[in-house]
Amino acid sequence: MCGIVGAVAQRDVADILVEGLKRLEYRGYDSAGVAVINKKNELLSTKRLGKVQELDQALTEAPLAGGTGIAHTRWATHGAPSEVNAHPHISSNTIAVVHNGIIENHQALRSQLQGLGYEFLSQTDTEVITHLVHHELKTSDSLLSAVQKTVKQLEGAYGTVVMDSRDQDNLIVARSGSPLVIGYGLGENFIASDIMALLPVTRKFSYLEEGDVAQISRFDVNIFDIDGKPVIREAKEVSVSHDSGDKGEYRHYMLKETYEQPTAIRNSLEGRLVAGKLDINTFGDGADEIFKNVEHVQIIACGTSYHSGMVARYWLEELAGVSCNIEIASEFRYRKSFVPKNSLLVTISQSGETADTLAALRLAKEIGYQSSLVICNVPGSSLVRESDLAFMTKAGAEIGVASTKAFTTQLVGLLMMTMAIGKHHGMSADKQAEITQSLMSLPAKLDEVLALASSIEDLAEDFADKNHALFLGRGDQYPIAMEGALKLKEISYIHAEAYAAGELKHGPLALIDAEMPVIVVAPKNDLIEKLKSNVEEVRARGGLMYVFADSDANFSSDDTCKVINVPVCDGIIAPIVYTLPLQLLSYYVAIIKGTDVDQPRNLAKSVTVE
Ligand code: AGP
Repeated sequence: MCGIVGAVAQRDVADILVEGLKRLEYRGYDSAGVAVINKKNELLSTKRLGKVQELDQALTEAPLAGGTGIAHTRWATHGAPSEVNAHPHISSNTIAVVHNGIIENHQALRSQLQGLGYEFLSQTDTEVITHLVHHELKTSDSLLSAVQKTVKQLEGAYGTVVMDSRDQDNLIVARSGSPLVIGYGLGENFIASDIMALLPVTRKFSYLEEGDVAQISRFDVNIFDIDGKPVIREAKEVSVSHDSGDKGEYRHYMLKETYEQPTAIRNSLEGRLVAGKLDINTFGDGADEIFKNVEHVQIIACGTSYHSGMVARYWLEELAGVSCNIEIASEFRYRKSFVPKNSLLVTISQSGETADTLAALRLAKEIGYQSSLVICNVPGSSLVRESDLAFMTKAGAEIGVASTKAFTTQLVGLLMMTMAIGKHHGMSADKQAEITQSLMSLPAKLDEVLALASSIEDLAEDFADKNHALFLGRGDQYPIAMEGALKLKEISYIHAEAYAAGELKHGPLALIDAEMPVIVVAPKNDLIEKLKSNVEEVRARGGLMYVFADSDANFSSDDTCKVINVPVCDGIIAPIVYTLPLQLLSYYVAIIKGTDVDQPRNLAKSVTVE
């Protein structure tokens, strides 16, 4: 979490830094700050509580001039969101630091530095880096060497940028556990947490590796590995669109991204299902060889990505005949687990930087998983670089904190993975053709679902004064109910839970009354009659229901039940189709409640701390 931008240039950089922060705001938006070195070697800094917009306003009123600078948008970990806890943190008016991550031994370092006479102004863990660099500089011949000595004393995770007001020519950056990317310009160079921040100024990037420390000046970039040896991290041009961060005609990114799903899925399918056949190379070199030996799949993910993995388990076991487990990354990484023979470790992550998922992948390699595959939306991200195989979803940049198009394109990737593995487990050519057909029909089907938006907007009125909601589904619609509940709670702040409908009678039925709306996802499938019995259990207890169902499922509206007709679709893709109405429902409820849809409170898009 937290977004970092830095620049060394001849021109004034404050505007570049603030534009970069706006593009990184998905990483956190509790406070923002910038510091530059002016021509007189003075450190000038402005910080504001709240979003980058507040900082932008402050800088419009009182601009900062300087060609070397650093900036930060914060997602609070240590110390409440406040101006004093905002980055950059400054030591002795000379050393300024921005940091992403958590310094786990900050208490011990704080006491040590206090003993040396350093006064702490904030409650953050970051401030220890600032004073430690200042302290180490007293016995070092350069800022680079002071930072190298400093990072050796840090435990935890950091992506950090350090500057010294007495040295206008250099920024020192260090990475361990939190991503940093160097952007190469003409006579100017940059650093950021993510390439998105720097797209207005460059398309040429190199990624720092774990343990790297680098010195960035206007004309040079010198990178040193964990042992202090000079290394080259190859710079590559990227072809990401400059404007992928624009909202266009839409009121919110989340709505734009919801409507982009047919296109995102078309893009994710394109070139991968050639003449009705899946191109296995889409997963990377040697994919077929790896899939051939797979006898078990272990999926690891967090949040929405975890829900897509849950759907994949149904697909893998039913369609491919391969056993599959799924676990939340933060649990998997801290327990001893059994590694079944010939297991494929599959991680799922929109960002490719989620700290728990990355740690789980690293652990999996240590404990004996032979091969790994990531389903990811961000090329070059840590999970992509550290996995053997990768399926890149082509959702395009997802800015809204609430994941929409990333989720449905993950499902598309997972269904293709099911085909790729199923091929080696007796999945028939007919079944492959049926899945292919189903996938090809998806974009048009989603266009039909999006046409339901205005009736779902009307429905949202019923939820605006509610404090709780229950989502029900069965089979592969159970994870979709979970995803619907997550969306509602995340952006409307209404408490929502999801249950496999058969579980109702084991406890949650006690919650049912007129104040607890019950949302049911009910396509016609093998479980529909079972689900209908569960619906009757709710009805008998005076519950109010909202049933998303196709005409074949045969539900009818009455006083206690509103039926929202979803277009009939093939059963295989039904989890994807039924996701969209729930995304729209939570969006319109949030609009009525007046919450911050794209940047809901307390959250961030990319969770790079554990
Ligand atoms: C859901 O809307 C959230 N954005 C969140 O649950 C997210 O899916 C989770 O943090 C995992 O992120 P990742 O896909 O980038 O790993």
